[in-house]
Amino acid sequence: MSKVINVAIDGPAGAGKSTISRAAAAKLGFIYIDTGALYRTVGVNALRQGADVKNASAVVSTLTDELNIELKFIDGEQRMFLNGEDVSVDIRTPEASMAASAVSAVPEVRKYLFDLQKNLAQNNNCIMDGRDIGTVVLPDADVKIFLTASPEARAKRRHLELTEKGMNTTYEEVLADMVERDYNDSHRAVAPLKQADDAVLADTSELDLQQSIELIISIIEGKI
Ligand code: DC
Repeated sequence: MSKVINVAIDGPAGAGKSTISRAAAAKLGFIYIDTGALYRTVGVNALRQGADVKNASAVVSTLTDELNIELKFIDGEQRMFLNGEDVSVDIRTPEASMAASAVSAVPEVRKYLFDLQKNLAQNNNCIMDGRDIGTVVLPDADVKIFLTASPEARAKRRHLELTEKGMNTTYEEVLADMVERDYNDSHRAVAPLKQADDAVLADTSELDLQQSIELIISIIEGKI
């Protein structure tokens, strides 16, 4: 088999990574892998087990031999399964977002999910998005992009997305959650969110979705 092509896209919550990555992957004929969904699934499992997600040893105790986290592609879309149950919708609540951010600071959780991510990338042309893809998971990725936007622009987009899904939350709450998650994600000891030295910086604060997608596709096509 010829060499696979891996694109790593990292950046803070709400920068549009998943929407932009999905659209760019469709255009290029690559699969799109959302690694945040893995951390969210570990977070939802911990919540369901009644673990205090801010307590690292409580979180580690939920990573049992019985725990089964699967990422499947159904009709080309990534779905997450927790012990056989499709939790793709359950992992999107604000509570699940906070739990994901908390459990992602635990080194054992990152280690637990590492091989799964690595294997997916080794076998597929893919765009993989997350926080540490270019720095830790795929340090040799063919293309690395750090996708960001101002906290206000990101909170505005995320608020619209949650409202459209029927979730009842205010812009101020979304912005506060976002600032807290940004802080957690970029200040944790293991694999903090940061731009890889060889990543291209893409700031979408002033761009609409279509312009952002075009920018990312042009960066990728310029490199492969
Ligand atoms: O991208 P997202 O909002 O779905 O990610 C949920 C949380 O998971 C986020 O707070 C940070 C964490 N995460 C991470 O630490 N590393 C990744 N590669 C992806 C997500």
